Order: sequence, then structure tokens, then C-alpha cells
Amino acid sequence: MIIAPSLLSCDFLNIETELKHFDGMDDLWLHLDIMDGHFVPNLTFGPPIVKMISEKTNLPLDAHCMVTNPRWHMEAYSKMGVHNFTFHLEACDDALELIKDAKKYYKSVGISIKPNTPVSDISDEILASIDLLLVMSVEPGFGGQSFIEGTYDKLDQIQNLKNENGYNFHVQVDGGVGEGNYQKLSDHGATNLVAGSFVFKKGPDHYHNQIKILKGE
Ligand code: DX5
Ligand code: ZN
Repeated sequence: MIIAPSLLSCDFLNIETELKHFDGMDDLWLHLDIMDGHFVPNLTFGPPIVKMISEKTNLPLDAHCMVTNPRWHMEAYSKMGVHNFTFHLEACDDALELIKDAKKYYKSVGISIKPNTPVSDISDEILASIDLLLVMSVEPGFGGQSFIEGTYDKLDQIQNLKNENGYNFHVQVDGGVGEGNYQKLSDHGATNLVAGSFVFKKGPDHYHNQIKILKGE
């Protein structure tokens, strides 16, 4: 299981110190919630901050773009050593074309679906092309929301599609992930868990332990 702490919940005025707490951890990605104030009703950060973060950590960076124009962002982060680039299916006219282009720059390319977007909206061609499928388990835009239980049905559908077709993309779940649901999410096929409030809520002395909990250690 990969754990991806969401920096949305970190102390942004001390981000360099925050990043250091995770240095050298295995199976850990740093999740960057990039919001444009248009696709979602919240605004976070963009290229200058992503560049600064990329210069201060060697951990894989996981860009989750909640933006209306993912192509612009795909190009902007392409030379910053971002490991995984995820954008929303709902934001695209031609997601497959963007996936193909993004693969030129990123080791891993992901597609995300919001809670009300059915799995059936994702074409077979897209499923065969992606490295990661991000299933939003809250409405994107804010940390600290409650997990939507309907997520498990979606995960089951995705697991069936993987079994039937041999797809081997990561299944990432984002929103309301914590001690009460990590095991069930894993049982339903999640391989990558994003967690903001759960990792950060008790302060820096507890980051490692919170992550261990999510790994079931
Ligand atoms: C929400 C973001 C999430 C968020 C998760 O739009 O995509 O990554 O930070 O926060 P928690 O874990 O607090 O629900
Ligand atoms: Zn996210």
C-alpha cells in the first residue's frame, strides 16, 4: 500500500520543515492538491509552489489537478520531476489524448472521477492507458470532509474490470481516509491512499505513526 499524505493539511508557512518529516520513507508519495478556483470552489497553489516543493524533497510528487484546463497544468509541471500527474475526467473533452501526451513527461498518469461520476463513464481505452485511477471519496475542494460510503461499490466495479481485462493501474482513494476505513478500502482493491487530516491532525511527532496505522503496521 502506498500512502500519499495530502499537503493541503500541512503547515504551509513551514512547508520545508513539513517536507523533511517524510524524508526517506518507503512507499510514500506527497500528494499535491492543485485547485484553480473554477473546477472546484477553492484555490490552492500552482507552478511556482510545486517547483519549490520539488526542489526540497526526493519523494515522488503526486499532482492531483482539480482544474478546468488540465493541459496547461500538464505542461507547467512537466519539467519539475513530478512523478504522477492526475487530472479529472470531468474536465476533459478528450481525456485519452491528454493521457497520451502526459505520458511523454510523467512516469505515471492518472485519471480522477468525482463521487457522482460513474465508473462506466471511463472508456476501455482510458482504462487500458492509465497508471492510476483516483476515486474521489468526497466532493473535491476541501480537506476534512466525511468519507462517502458509496465509494466501496465503485471500488468493486473497478476491481471486476481489472480482473476481467488484466488492467494493472493503481487504485487511489482520496477524501475522508483514516483509521476507520483503511482496511476495508484495501480489501476492496485500493492500492494507494491519500490522507490529509488523518496524517497531520496530531502534529509532526505523530506523522510517522499515523502513516503506519494506514499501512496496517
Ligand atoms: C480534496 C483533496 C484531498 C484532501 C483530502 O479535494 O483532493 O486530497 O486533501 O483530505 P482529507 O484526508 O482530510 O479528507
Ligand atoms: Zn487530492
